[in-house]
Amino acid sequence: MQTPRCIAIAVMTLDGKIARHHHHFTDWSSPEDKQFLREFLQRTDIIVVGHNTHEIASKELGKYNRIVLTTSVATTERKDEKLLLCNPESVDVRPLLEPYKLAGILGGMDTYTYFLERGLLDELYLTIEPLVFGQGLDLFASTKIITKQFKLESVKRLNERGSLLLHYTKL
Ligand SMILES: NC(=O)c1ccc[n+]([C@@H]2O[C@H](COP(=O)([O-])OP(=O)(O)OC[C@H]3O[C@@H](n4cnc5c(N)ncnc54)[C@H](OP(=O)(O)O)[C@@H]3O)[C@@H](O)[C@H]2O)c1
Repeated sequence: MQTPRCIAIAVMTLDGKIARHHHHFTDWSSPEDKQFLREFLQRTDIIVVGHNTHEIASKELGKYNRIVLTTSVATTERKDEKLLLCNPESVDVRPLLEPYKLAGILGGMDTYTYFLERGLLDELYLTIEPLVFGQGLDLFASTKIITKQFKLESVKRLNERGSLLLHYTKL
């Protein structure tokens, strides 16, 4: 079996922030970006999300098949048919994804970083909203010195205000 195509999707500010803090709900993105996210979620076979994001967005994500990264379990723990908890410090997430074709990597920062560091991000959809937080969480926060290269596939202007949807693939 193969690892599925792992596609990360994120929305960020002009200064590259995905949230003000670890528990900041993403209520600041444009309606057009929210619509794109909803359509993307329909395409996924599985989503991977960090514990903090899952706590904040459990209502929206509850209907999707999902793996939640958390150190609160020793290895893995199945909560119900759609929800698997996984400790990425003791378990390699990759084999858990093998049964699926398309994995949506929904963040937040720690989860995006886990997939980036392991070279598992095949594609990245990044919406840039025309606003600035001045401080907050970056898209990635690796403690390692890494270079990962991507190629821009498309740019789409989502609305009059200028929210931009960028699509990158791994080089
Ligand atoms: N703008 C966007 O597109 C976007 C997308 C998603 C999320 N967000 C925002 O981002 C914020 C949350 O980000 P976050 O950095 O706190 O990330 P997160 O990935 O949502 O959650 C981090 C938690 O997940 C677990 N985890 C994730 N990766 C891990 C790893 N490699 N090793 C061990 N544990 C790991 C840990 O849970 P335990 O503490 O249980 O061990 C960690 O505390 C929220 O404000 C959310 O709204 C924004």
